[in-house]
Amino acid sequence: NMSTHYQNLLISRPDPAVLLITLNRPKALNALNKALITEIHQALDQAENDPEIGSIVLTGSERAFAAGADIKEMKDKKCTPAISHEKMILTNDVISVAEVYKSDFLHDWSRITRMRKPTIAAVSGYALGGGCELAMMCDIILASPTAVFGQPEINLGIIPGAGGTQRLTHAIGKSRAMELILTGRDITAQMAEAWGLVSRVVGDGEGEVVKEAVQVASTIASKGQIAIQAAKEAVNASYQLQLEEGLRLERRLFHSLFATKDQKEGMTAFAEKRKPVFTHL
Ligand code: CAA
Repeated sequence: NMSTHYQNLLISRPDPAVLLITLNRPKALNALNKALITEIHQALDQAENDPEIGSIVLTGSERAFAAGADIKEMKDKKCTPAISHEKMILTNDVISVAEVYKSDFLHDWSRITRMRKPTIAAVSGYALGGGCELAMMCDIILASPTAVFGQPEINLGIIPGAGGTQRLTHAIGKSRAMELILTGRDITAQMAEAWGLVSRVVGDGEGEVVKEAVQVASTIASKGQIAIQAAKEAVNASYQLQLEEGLRLERRLFHSLFATKDQKEGMTAFAEKRKPVFTHL
């Protein structure tokens, strides 16, 4: 329902088939607090359930995609020091670590990775810590020349907790991921492009990266959506499976697409030298 009212998000449909989600907590550089994460998930559910929507663009402001998990919200989730036996009486610290453990703090952030519809992050400004991790959970990252990526958690006495040590390493390799995560240093959009963290650096003016992301999203949404989702499922499997198993999954998904009307239409349209009209059936 498009009329859902959000406190921390702006929602629009730049194309009837594209949902644009703009993080809008400007005073905190879009720091990801519980309320913002909950709203992102509501918007994603809305997108996943709306048959008109084929793909999703997630963006922030010119200044910040997101500056990380909300540090002010996290700072009182204290960690348990080495506990001596007499300290086993429940102190506040013990209650706090029980709380983050029991709630599996950050686990629910990965909602976006379970989307079947493709997701594109359009990043301007800071994408730090949880902001970088959120971008990496999307299928495609486009960056404006102002984008800054990094995992500065080490400066806070913690480590990345929403996938940074895993997804960044997959994306840019061990040595580069180690350097970023162990020093807490940022990289520019240009470096992120050279290292393969983002597909491309786009444009030079304000809002260009969002326009381009919407273009890509519209192109994706114009294809047969069963094939799109199967393609996404197969690419994602390459991170989980051994090559033989991945190739088998790909082939089985490929075979199954011959049972769709979109395959008949796509190939017939080619033979008839016309544009296909996909019905997602
Ligand atoms: N959490 C809470 N508030 C934040 C925030 C964050 N991650 N990042 C910025 N803000 C707030 C600032 O506190 C400030 O608020 P006030 O005006 O009330 O003081 C406001 O946003 C503007 O920020 P700055 O004044 O700091 O802006 P700046 O331009 O001087 O610096 C910055 C920008 C370099 C991004 C700096 O804000 C910064 O270093 N932010 C923290 C980055 C960070 O450490 N992120 C990792 C968080 S931990 C994490 O994400 C764990 C995980 O793996 C999930």
